[in-house]
Amino acid sequence: MHFSYLATTALVSRALAAPPKWNTPTLQHWLYSSQVDEQSLDLLDRPDIVGIQALYSWRSLEPAESHYNFTVIKNDYDKVMAKGKKFWIQLQDRTFSAGNDPVPKYMHTPYYNNGSAPSCDGDSCDTDFEVTGWVAQQWNLRVRQRYQALLSALAKDFDGKITGLNLAETSIAVDEDANNYTNEGYFLGELENAGHAARVFKRSYAVQYVNFWPDGWNNTNNRFEDSFNYYAKHGVGVGGPDLIPNKPGQEANSYVYIPKFHGTVPIAVVAVQEKDLEEINQETGQPFTKDEFVDFAVNELHVDIIFWALATPWLQSS
Ligand SMILES: *[C@@H]1O[C@H](CO)[C@@H](O)[C@H](O)[C@H]1NC(C)=O
Ligand SMILES: *[C@@H]1O[C@H](CO)[C@@H](O)[C@H](O)[C@H]1NC(C)=O
Ligand SMILES: *[C@@H]1O[C@H](CO)[C@@H](O)[C@H](O)[C@H]1NC(C)=O
Ligand SMILES: *[C@@H]1O[C@H](CO)[C@@H](O)[C@H](O)[C@H]1NC(C)=O
Repeated sequence: MHFSYLATTALVSRALAAPPKWNTPTLQHWLYSSQVDEQSLDLLDRPDIVGIQALYSWRSLEPAESHYNFTVIKNDYDKVMAKGKKFWIQLQDRTFSAGNDPVPKYMHTPYYNNGSAPSCDGDSCDTDFEVTGWVAQQWNLRVRQRYQALLSALAKDFDGKITGLNLAETSIAVDEDANNYTNEGYFLGELENAGHAARVFKRSYAVQYVNFWPDGWNNTNNRFEDSFNYYAKHGVGVGGPDLIPNKPGQEANSYVYIPKFHGTVPIAVVAVQEKDLEEINQETGQPFTKDEFVDFAVNELHVDIIFWALATPWLQSS
């Protein structure tokens, strides 16, 4: 999610104060892709790439209630193993397109209240709520039970095989007066799902992408402290979809807590997604370079893995 914070305040520039020290032995470079295709498999041959994080929607994995089909994951997993590389699953319970529903078809009944709710992405959702996608109603117990059943089924097949699985970002904008939504219900539901993921994945990492909370700007309602304490207590790793050095919106939110909880949560990861590649470094007037991304990820956020979009410029050259 790309939260363009309306930055009128001066940027806090730290990244370039010291020379980059990005050759930290612990940082791993991975690919991030919506699918394991020919391009990503080719890039996996690079010796500097450890593995791939691939995306799967809930809907695609549960064609009928309690009937799971993990064939695509299994095939992707086999291809990646054949290259001697590692595999990571991002489980999507939300979409960023209005025509795409993330929840299984069978949920479209009153019993599940249709399972998903229309959502808005961007910085003007408060004033101009435009439907740009859908999110699973994780504040609804019936929906959550089905989601946790999916996590259990995934763990049965993939725990200890994959390096990790992450749940989608916590950022959300829905009609707060519809579908019995409450901020508290959503917050607690998200925590419960993450705790469940960590309980069933005993040998692979379970990670929550935690970037923003709907009523938690700058730790309002103690959302960040409470969630990170929960993750530490329940063995949930943390991370986020957007590595954007010194971005004010992120700096007022998750970027405070990711380093603060370094060593108390099992792992921290961050992705450089396609849109992040377009972000401009205010100091140089240019898009961020690999060194600038890595320096910030290592020295400011203290993350263990960066997941790079396939379009990343430095991946195009050997
Ligand atoms: C599972 O999914 C695969 C790939 O989409 C498909 O070919 C296969 O027919 C599905 N299996 C079942 C039992 O539906
Ligand atoms: C919403 O909450 C009311 C009151 O608790 C309950 O009767 C109703 O079934 C709920 N609806 C949904 C869709 O969860
Ligand atoms: C559920 O979906 C049906 C059919 O698409 C629609 O008519 C109904 O209004 C939806 N219910 C809710 C609560 O959104
Ligand atoms: C966040 O809140 C604290 C007080 O709780 C305040 O001192 C600080 O300036 C705020 N930071 C931002 C970036 O809004």
